[in-house]
Amino acid sequence: MSQQKPSIIHIIRPDDWHLHIRAGEGLKSVIPHTARQCGRAIIMPNLTPPVINTEQAGIYRQSILAALPENTHFTPLMTLYLTNDTPVEEIQKALDCGFIAAVKLYPAGATTNSDAGVTDIKKCYPTLEKMQELGLPLLVHGEVTAAEIDIFDREKRFIDDKLIPLISDFPELKIVFEHITTADAADFVTQSSAYIAATITAHHLLMNRNDMLVGGIKPHHYCLPVLKRETHRQALLKAAASGNNKFFMGTDSAPHSRQNKETACGCAGMFTAFAAIELYAEAFDEASSLDKLEQFSSLNGPLFYGLEANNDMITLQREKWTVPDSYPFGDDQLIPLRAGQSIHWKLKS
Ligand code: DOR
Ligand code: ZN
Repeated sequence: MSQQKPSIIHIIRPDDWHLHIRAGEGLKSVIPHTARQCGRAIIMPNLTPPVINTEQAGIYRQSILAALPENTHFTPLMTLYLTNDTPVEEIQKALDCGFIAAVKLYPAGATTNSDAGVTDIKKCYPTLEKMQELGLPLLVHGEVTAAEIDIFDREKRFIDDKLIPLISDFPELKIVFEHITTADAADFVTQSSAYIAATITAHHLLMNRNDMLVGGIKPHHYCLPVLKRETHRQALLKAAASGNNKFFMGTDSAPHSRQNKETACGCAGMFTAFAAIELYAEAFDEASSLDKLEQFSSLNGPLFYGLEANNDMITLQREKWTVPDSYPFGDDQLIPLRAGQSIHWKLKS
């Protein structure tokens, strides 16, 4: 018997556990989108220069709070950018300040503004030891960077070559494997201890590599880790909608100006924050799992980070609307995912 599809759902307000909002005028343009939808967001530290210490994170946080529309209840959860030289003492400072929720590991060269990232994780061992002791999570961009490794294999190789040894050396370090894109990563996280969790983006739940490459190259569908084949998308959808509390929402919404995307060497990243929860609703709807959306978007993240869930609700309605062709991004424009096309769920204010 076919089940009636719901036309309206009410869920606890979600959080975005992986978000890029940049700085300056760009920040002012994009943060209202997330603040309208989410109670909190983990703010990525890959600015130029990167946010490498508590003092810089505090300044960045103030600029975010100043950019919020009036009467918005939104909490930015700050992160530090791990370098080969992050001092051990910085971890205690980060914990004591009360506004830093995690430390981000970018393997040097893996993605946007990762040049100052880690070249040899062993150099960070004393710092990781302290994080394990204090319970401060490590957020991982899980791709190897060696030139000879095929870009579609970089996540799997990261698991085998980097993550397994790291977990074996720090079995009680809380780790979020960020924006996982493969069946291998979903299986690995499922089988790991309770210290290991993962975020999944809406775009990796909704698209595969054909959406980037068939019928002409689509620079606005280029992100890192790059979209994978359909079997991987199916595995991610299954993990997200499984009810397993290790998987939670992290959009990796990553705004770049139109000109930085539509060029001979375009930047990686998709802008999805304007419709984050609607895009996830579409993905869960496709999997006939809308009843699992709240757990993924609003409960599993706080559980892993040791926080309470948000205390208000949002309403989503099955309603088709057309995405604008562009949004302002400081003095520039940015092209959102699905520009000029439709989304089938709408957040009601
Ligand atoms: O697509 C991406 N964009 N992946 C990342 O890891 C970084 C992000 C960005 O900052 O633009
Ligand atoms: Zn990211």
